[in-house]
Amino acid sequence: GALPAGHPLSDGRTSAAPLIRALRGDRPEHLPVWFMRQAGRSLPEYREARQGTEMLEACLRPELASEITLQPVRRHGVDAGIFFSDIVVPLKLAGVGVEIASGVGPVMDQPYRTVSDVDRLVELSVDDDALAPIREAVALTVAELGTTPLIGFGGAPFTLAAYLVEGRPSRDHLAARTMMHAAPETWGRLLAWTADLTGAFLRAQVTAGASAVQLFDSWAGSLSLTDYRERVAGASARALSHVAGTGVPGIHFGTGTGHLLGAMRDVLVAAGISDHTVGIDYRTPLDEAARLLPGVPLQGNVDPALLGAPWPVLEAHVRDVAARGAEAPGHVLNLGHGVPPETDPAVLTRVVELAHSL
Ligand code: CP3
Repeated sequence: GALPAGHPLSDGRTSAAPLIRALRGDRPEHLPVWFMRQAGRSLPEYREARQGTEMLEACLRPELASEITLQPVRRHGVDAGIFFSDIVVPLKLAGVGVEIASGVGPVMDQPYRTVSDVDRLVELSVDDDALAPIREAVALTVAELGTTPLIGFGGAPFTLAAYLVEGRPSRDHLAARTMMHAAPETWGRLLAWTADLTGAFLRAQVTAGASAVQLFDSWAGSLSLTDYRERVAGASARALSHVAGTGVPGIHFGTGTGHLLGAMRDVLVAAGISDHTVGIDYRTPLDEAARLLPGVPLQGNVDPALLGAPWPVLEAHVRDVAARGAEAPGHVLNLGHGVPPETDPAVLTRVVELAHSL
C-alpha cells in the first residue's frame, strides 16, 4: 500500500531531490552521485566506530548503524545515504546461522542443499518484531538526513541462495546452478522463501523512511539468460513486489550482467515498481546500455579500479561516463561495483565535486 503519513518522499522532503528526480527519468540541476559501499572500510571514522563490534552485530545496533550510514553523507556530500546493513541481515533475523567473516564475506553454519535443508529453512521467517532494529535505525537516519534521500536495499533471491547453497562465497556458484536444474521444485521453494525474506526487509526500510530501494543481484551475471528468465527473475519480481504501490523508485543492480539487462528491467516492471532504474557495472558503456534499455534511467558506472589511478585519468573517465550517461533519460553517477577498502576517501569527495560541477 501507500506510504505512511510523514514519510520523507510523500511529505515533500525528498521528492525534489536530484537523486529521486534522476530515478524518475528527469535531469535535475546537478548530476546526482552516491557510491555502493560508501559506508565502510575506506573511511577511518567507520573503522573506529566498528572497533570491537562484529559486522552483523553492528547492523543490529540502531544508533551505530545510523551513524555509519550518515558518515559518508557528511564527509563526501553525496546525494543519498545507503542504509548500513547487509544482504544477509534478514537471514540472521530469521534465525539462520550466518556470520560475516572479514575479508571473506557471508559464511553459513552449513550449506543448504538438500530437500530437508530447504524444508527447515522455509519454516523460518521474520516478523515485525524481528525487524524493529531495522526500522529504528532507518527512522533515526532519515530524521538526520533532511532533504537527502535514504536508499534501502536487499539481496536478490539468487544472490542470497548462492550463499545459502554454497554455504560461503564461491566463484561460479556451481552448487546453486546445479540445484536449479537437479531439483527445480526445491530450488523454487528456496527462491520464493528468500524473495519474501528480502521483501520484508525492503518493506521495513521503506515504511520507516527510505525514499528508494536497490535490489542487489551481485552474482546474477553467472547465469545464462534462459536460466535467469526461467528460474530466477520471477523470484526477484516477487521480492520487489513487497514495495510496489508505495511509489518509491527501484534500482536493479548486478555485475557481469550485460546479457541480462533487458530481463533485469523486466523484473522491475513485473514487480509493479513505478520508476525503474537499472544499475550498470563497469563492463558495459552507458551509451550502449541506453540503447539496450530505451526510456530507462541508468545508474553507474565508474570503474572502481580507476579510483586508484592518477586524478587526470580518473577525471577523464568520470567525464566520459557522464557524457555517455547523458544518452539515458536519467543518470545517477555511481561505481560499477563497491568502493574498494583501500580507496583514499579524498578521491571519492573529489569525484562528488566533479559530478556536481558537470
Ligand atoms: O555502503 C553500503 O553500500 C551500505 C552497506 C552494504 C554492506 N553490504 C555493508 C558491508 C551493502 C549495500 C551491502 C550489500 C552486500 N553484501 C552485497 C551486495 C553488494 C555487492 O557488493 O555486490 C553482497 C554481495 C554482500 C555480502 C557481503 N558482505 C560481502 C561480499 C562482504 C565483504 C566481505 C569482505 O570483508 O570483503 C560483506 C561484508 C560487508 N558488508 C562489509 C560492509 C561494510 C565489510 C565488513 C567489515 O567492515 O569487515
